[in-house]
Amino acid sequence: MFFLPVEFDHNNQEVDQIKKIFIHKFNENFEHRLEYHRFLSQTSLGVKISNYLKSIDLDTDYTGFGIFLNNVNSRTLTNPHIDVLHLAHELLPIRSRFNFLIHQNESFYMIWWSKIKWGDTSLAKHEFLNKNGLPYLSMAIPGNTIEERYQYLGDLDFQLLNPLRPCGFVNTENSHALSIGPGPRLILSVGFNISLREIYERIKNRIRT
Ligand SMILES: [Fe+2]
Repeated sequence: MFFLPVEFDHNNQEVDQIKKIFIHKFNENFEHRLEYHRFLSQTSLGVKISNYLKSIDLDTDYTGFGIFLNNVNSRTLTNPHIDVLHLAHELLPIRSRFNFLIHQNESFYMIWWSKIKWGDTSLAKHEFLNKNGLPYLSMAIPGNTIEERYQYLGDLDFQLLNPLRPCGFVNTENSHALSIGPGPRLILSVGFNISLREIYERIKNRIRT
């Protein structure tokens, strides 16, 4: 299971409130950034999302509220990866995320492979440099370049065009990548150590009761 769309009651003002906070960042030129901000959980949309996630017993403090920002000049295929939580010297899984699309100019695709997931022995602990030039360890799909990683993974198993309308749960424990179009893109995101299958079961049981 790779994607689980959900119905979510919200209004445009709540989405615009978050867009306005971050839109100035798009004056800068950059490819990809993930920022965690505690205040996001206190915005009107953040409170609704928190309440919803807590109603299916999902711990929003595991990663906290983050925001993905992209601003590329032309269509870009991102590095295939699995999501990892960096806690001091520990690496923990982010098996799934609740993602809410705040803004995008162009369509995006999300693609997944069954081949490699969290726990797979072929995942290498690999040293990367963060944007400040400091080294950090992460779990890398075999290959020295993005192209080599795509080659290693081979044919993809699932692809979705514009999966977030505007929100849903995505599988982030399997290897995945994005194709993003040019211009600003903003995604509100909360990560969990719970598989998408388990979240699906929780939602199903909640609807029954
Ligand atoms: Fe990811």
